[in-house]
Amino acid sequence: MNDSSVRDLNAPIGVQEIVARLERAGFETWCVGGAVRDALLGHPHLDWDFATAATPAEVIRVFKRTVPIGIEFGTVGVFDSQGTMHEVTTFRRDVNTDGRHAVVEFGASLDDDLARRDFTVNAIAYHPKSQEIRDPFDGRLDLKRGLVRAVGKASERMREDRLRALRGIRFAARFSFHIEPETWAAIRASASHMGRLSPERVKQELEKTMEQVERPSNALEWWREAGFLEELVPSIAMAPTERFAALDSLPRAEGALAKGATLSRLAMLWFGEKESVAAAATKALRFSNADSSWISSLAGASAELGRTIDATVREGAPSAVDVRRWVARIGRMRTETFFTLYAALWRARLANDANAIDESRIDALSKLAVIIAFRDPIEIADLAVDGEDLHKAGIKNGPAMGKALHVLLERVIENPALNTIDQLTEIAKAL
Ligand code: CTP
Repeated sequence: MNDSSVRDLNAPIGVQEIVARLERAGFETWCVGGAVRDALLGHPHLDWDFATAATPAEVIRVFKRTVPIGIEFGTVGVFDSQGTMHEVTTFRRDVNTDGRHAVVEFGASLDDDLARRDFTVNAIAYHPKSQEIRDPFDGRLDLKRGLVRAVGKASERMREDRLRALRGIRFAARFSFHIEPETWAAIRASASHMGRLSPERVKQELEKTMEQVERPSNALEWWREAGFLEELVPSIAMAPTERFAALDSLPRAEGALAKGATLSRLAMLWFGEKESVAAAATKALRFSNADSSWISSLAGASAELGRTIDATVREGAPSAVDVRRWVARIGRMRTETFFTLYAALWRARLANDANAIDESRIDALSKLAVIIAFRDPIEIADLAVDGEDLHKAGIKNGPAMGKALHVLLERVIENPALNTIDQLTEIAKAL
C-alpha cells in the first residue's frame, strides 16, 4: 500500500505539540500504536503514543515534566500542554526475548521499530504535521478487510511475547475482525507456553476484554478454543456456553459506572461455580480481596440457589417469603447485581431454548428482590432485638444465643410483622 497517503486523523493539539517540540530539537518523531489504529477506524482514542529517534535521556532534556516509565525499554512519560501524559519511546529493535521480557536496542529506524510490533493494524505510524502515514505491513488494508494479522512471521511474533496471543483475540473480538489463519495457528500454538504470563497480566487482559469488547463471548470462546482457559483459568474452561453468551447483554464499562460494570462482567465468568472455586480462581489471578469476595459470593449464591429459583419461577410468581429467603442468602448489597446476572443468563438461554423462562417474569422478580432487600428484615442486624435483649430474656450467651437469633430471623423472614421487641422476646422465651 502507498506509504505516503495523506489523511487528517485529528490528533489533539497537545499531541501535535509533542511531535513539533522533539522535531525542533532534531529528533524524528511519529504517532504510533493503538491511537493511530483507532483513529483510522474512526473510533475516539485518548491514548496517543509516540516513537522517536531521541534516546530517553534526550527526551527528558527536551521536556520539563517527564516520568521515567521504562527507561531500559526506552519509554518516558511526557505531559502535553493539556496535562495529559503520553508514552514517548525510542525507536528500537528486539535483540532477545524470553516470551515476556524483551531486551531492546536503540539506534533503530522507524521501520525497524514498526517491524517489531505485534499486528499489522498496530504497526502503522502517523505524522501529525505532514499527515504522512507509514504503513509497511499493509495495516490499513487489514483494517479495511477486518483482519488481525501478525507482522511478519506470526510464530516469531508470538514467541517474542505470549501476551500477544491474548491481545490478538481481544482485537479481533473488539473490532469483529477475523484472525488470519497463520496468525491463528501461532496463537493456538502459544497455549502450552501461557504459563510464562504473570497472573496480573492475564487478569489485565480479562479486564480489558470486559471493558473494550461489546460482545465478549467471542473472545472467551476463542480463549477456550485455543486452550487458554484450560491453561490460565481452568475453573471456567468447561463453563456452559450460555454463561459466556450472557456477557454480551451485560453493559460495557462507560463513564462513572466503569468499575462496577466491568466487575459485574467478571463476576458472570464464575456465576454458577461454587464459592470456594471462584474464590481460589480469583485469588490466583490476583484480584483484590474485596473483588474476589464480591465475585465468589455471587458465584456461591448462584450455585446454591440457581435451581430453586429456576423451578420456583417456572411454577409462577415466587412469594415474598421465597424472595426474602433468597435475598437473605445473596446479601442485601449484592441482590441487584445477582439478579442482573441471573437475568442475563436467562436471556442467553432464551436464544436457544424456546422453553426458557420468559424475560418479563425475571424482570418482575429482579424488581421485587431489590425492593425486598432494602425494605424487609433479612439479616440478623435487622432484627428488633439483639443479643443483649435476649440475654435479659434469659437466653445464655454462646451457641444458644446464635441459634436463637437465627430462629428469630427465620420467623421474621416468614412474617416481617413479627419484628418487634415484644413479639421476638416472647418467641425467644418459648424456645
Ligand atoms: N505492542 C506490541 N506487542 C505487545 C504490546 C504492544 O507490539 N505485546 C505494540 C503495538 O504496536 C501496540 C503498541 O505497542 O499498538 C501500544 O501497546 P498498548 O498500548 O499496550 O496497546 P494498544 O495497541 O494501544 O491497544 P489498547 O491500549 O487498546 O490495549
